[in-house]
Amino acid sequence: MKLTLIPFLAVLAAGPALADNFDEIKLQAGQALFEKECRRCHAVGSQDPSYGPPLENVVGRAAGSVVDYDYSIALEASGIVWTPAALRAWLEDNDGFMPGTKMRHVGIEDRTVQDFILFYLTSISDVAGNKAISD
Ligand code: HEC
Repeated sequence: MKLTLIPFLAVLAAGPALADNFDEIKLQAGQALFEKECRRCHAVGSQDPSYGPPLENVVGRAAGSVVDYDYSIALEASGIVWTPAALRAWLEDNDGFMPGTKMRHVGIEDRTVQDFILFYLTSISDVAGNKAISD
């Protein structure tokens, strides 16, 4: 009994540490992908100049709601909220998802790449359960 319990406890002890490492790696991958695919047009915060709207807090935000940004009519009138599912559709085929948007076509179909980018976007958004990641 004692012998089988010890490895079990060891796994329990390693669990949270492993999860933290994975989150850190996912965050780094997401950030690298953001830098490569999005950053030339998007800043994170509104204090930094960017051609596209800043993406801080984008997860859970109403589309077209950054006050000072000059959106296309299509995006402004879309009435959608940037849920993870909507962001996934946007990453996959933004102008197919929303004809008339002025964001140049981005066709990220690889679900794993989408996952990492979403992980990063969540980390820069003030959504429930996200505190540990954004700190
Ligand atoms: C070539 C420039 C460019 C690139 C690259 C780009 N975007 Fe955009 N993005 C824009 C522009 C311009 C808009 C505003 C579109 C509109 O008003 O129709 C926009 C809008 C958005 C919005 C809507 C935000 C809101 O406030 O409603 C999201 C979300 C978004 N982009 C995410 C991304 C992500 C994630 C990437 C990288 C995978 C990316 N974009 C790459 C230019 C770009």
